[in-house]
Amino acid sequence: MSQSLLQVQGLGISFGGLKAVQNVTLEVKEREIVGLIGPNGAGKTTFFNLVTGIYKPTTGHVAIVGKSTENLKSFEITNECFCARTFQNIRLFRDLTVMENVLVASHKRVDYGLLSVLLHSQKFQTKEMEIRARARKLLSIFKLDGKEDELACNLPYGDQRKLEIVRALSTEPKLLFLDEPAAGMNQQETAELLKLVKFVRDTFQIGILVIEHDMKFIMGVCERIYVLDHGMLIAEGNPEQIRKNPEVIKAYLGEEV
Ligand SMILES: Nc1ncnc2c1ncn2[C@@H]1O[C@H](COP(=O)(O)OP(=O)(O)OP(=O)(O)O)[C@@H](O)[C@H]1O
Ligand SMILES: [Mg+2]
Repeated sequence: MSQSLLQVQGLGISFGGLKAVQNVTLEVKEREIVGLIGPNGAGKTTFFNLVTGIYKPTTGHVAIVGKSTENLKSFEITNECFCARTFQNIRLFRDLTVMENVLVASHKRVDYGLLSVLLHSQKFQTKEMEIRARARKLLSIFKLDGKEDELACNLPYGDQRKLEIVRALSTEPKLLFLDEPAAGMNQQETAELLKLVKFVRDTFQIGILVIEHDMKFIMGVCERIYVLDHGMLIAEGNPEQIRKNPEVIKAYLGEEV
């Protein structure tokens, strides 16, 4: 039986009088691709900020890979719960190269000390080779090979989005959070991204929770979808169930689901 990678129970946060996320219960199992959708301002990014420890919840509980995140800081959640995320607004090191961007992220999880680095110990050299090999493999999966030495700021927008995902994957997560990975991509890039996300899940056997407004992408990539509106969950189901759900249609009023 597949295990739970993310278990969220009754999660909520208020900003002053605004209940941005209210009583949200959600689960992502091993190797699942799950969608989180909802109109602008529904609380999707706030939900990611809660589960990744950027905000402290007012109510509820989060467990990632079976571990409660309650007393963990954001960087500890990333390290100890084996998760990684991308951001709605791209956060690359603009003046570093593509390869440098990946290497900086990869080094978050190395376990050798400064002495090893200074002495260039065997452990250090082996690990460095492994990290570079993984970075190259990921860049080639995302068709960014050949662009290793380009500055991140010079990449086309779609490539910058893909580089963000490569950076997240380089930390070897078991659970990946993607916040609007297709934003700003054209139809062809979005279709390519859909295949890549499935390929990544199959290859690395990870779970993925993805926020996205592009319905074709969401319906094509997700096995299950949760719908948020005004901070509350209004529906959960497979793409077919979500497409037909009257509550969802009402929330999107006029938008094609
Ligand atoms: N730090 C904050 N302080 C105050 N209000 C906030 C804060 N962060 C988010 N909000 C508010 O919470 C609500 C949910 O915002 P959020 O960014 O989570 O929406 P979203 O579903 O990600 O929307 P979008 O699809 O536009 O990205 C909005 O009304 C937003 O203004
Ligand atoms: Mg958002």
